[in-house]
Amino acid sequence: MKPQELFELLHYHPHAGQQAFHDSDARFKVLIAGARFGKSLAAARDVLREILSGKTRGWLVGPTYDLTRPEFRYIRDDLYRLGERPLERSNPPSLTTSWGAEVICLSAHSPQALLGDEIDWLILCEAAHIERDAFERFLRARLATRSGRMIVPTTPHGYNWIFDLYRRGLGHEGEWQSFRHATWENPNIPPGEILAARRDLPADTFDEQYGGAFTSPSGRVYREYERGLHVVNGLEPPPGAIIFKAIDFGYTNPFACLWGAQDSDGRLLILREHYCTGLALSRQAEAMRVIDAGFEKAGCEIGPAFADPSGALERRLLQEEGLPTHAADNRVSGGIEIVRRRMLLREDGRPGLLIDSGCTNLLREIEGYQWDESSLERRMPRKADDHALDALRYLCVALARKVDWKNAGTLW
Ligand SMILES: Nc1ncnc2c1ncn2[C@@H]1O[C@H](COP(=O)(O)OP(=O)(O)OP(=O)(O)O)[C@@H](O)[C@H]1O
Ligand SMILES: [Mg+2]
Repeated sequence: MKPQELFELLHYHPHAGQQAFHDSDARFKVLIAGARFGKSLAAARDVLREILSGKTRGWLVGPTYDLTRPEFRYIRDDLYRLGERPLERSNPPSLTTSWGAEVICLSAHSPQALLGDEIDWLILCEAAHIERDAFERFLRARLATRSGRMIVPTTPHGYNWIFDLYRRGLGHEGEWQSFRHATWENPNIPPGEILAARRDLPADTFDEQYGGAFTSPSGRVYREYERGLHVVNGLEPPPGAIIFKAIDFGYTNPFACLWGAQDSDGRLLILREHYCTGLALSRQAEAMRVIDAGFEKAGCEIGPAFADPSGALERRLLQEEGLPTHAADNRVSGGIEIVRRRMLLREDGRPGLLIDSGCTNLLREIEGYQWDESSLERRMPRKADDHALDALRYLCVALARKVDWKNAGTLW
């Protein structure tokens, strides 16, 4: 059956970007596109003809099993639509058709599982979040003998190894072909969804996650920050506010603690900082208790504190000082993204994060924080002068109510 006939049977009408991808008979196809462009659907329907053609074997490999699920569901649903009832197994998620075609989901997190069988096709789901090593050591060779083909549907993630694959297919190098598209090229996505994303995301995140663009972090990390917007003199906690603390431990490096509260709109107010080197932890605790007491006197309630998870001993000592803490989430690049989103302007024209002008160390660190441009693959900030910044990140992540890591482009 020709692909077009199969698509008709499924009532699938690829949009122009998908059609160009289906029309290509390259053996290795790299489909870079923004979220919801239709990558997973197109990839799944592209391999359907192999699945239908006989006793073939194909793998869906993702950074995690979860990220193979969309392609797996599309394939399973299509088989059902075509009247087939494949046998399903759950560990690993897989299906076998009545004519013996196999579809197996695998996680690149356990690359050993990627050894073994030869395969006819491979979809590397959200490949930008798979390690280059997992591909080169465990996957590339799988395709060799059966002349298997590979599809790489993913949103980009900076100039990492996926960019190299993408470049190979630009010049029609050998058997490669590449495609790159923006979310809005899928006519099935309501424009309002795109507008909302443009409003709620930092510009470069939007360009990457919706524009399907390769972007490289450079210069200032917190580009959204402007003194005139984010800094307020004499910032007061709202009446009866719950006061949160976030702590980054240090002795030769500064010990940094921030006090924050949320207003009725969920805006985060950073009210105080304590930033000090060379003091025993008991003395730091003393200073913190004094500040806590000040907030209590003003009618606030002292709420949870979040501290560097690598400081287990320090956290225990603070606990003994009557200052219990939760281990903060210390995943850096995703946390930075959450802080940046907080810094964006809201509908009322004010940002989601305000900082009291007395937090001079925090402000200095925000202004000096730079991306590490020597290692574009890692996408990390330069590790210097980031103590109050770590505390700010702990607090923002802890308070992020609903975090959609995948769409934040921050899959760790
Ligand atoms: N040609 C099409 N006709 C109708 N609907 C489509 C078409 N292509 C994609 N869609 C719909 O668009 C949505 C996104 O599709 P899909 O899951 O394939 O996108 P994706 O690019 O893989 O998204 P994500 O970035 O979330 O993984 C789905 O609801 C899908 O059914
Ligand atoms: Mg997808």
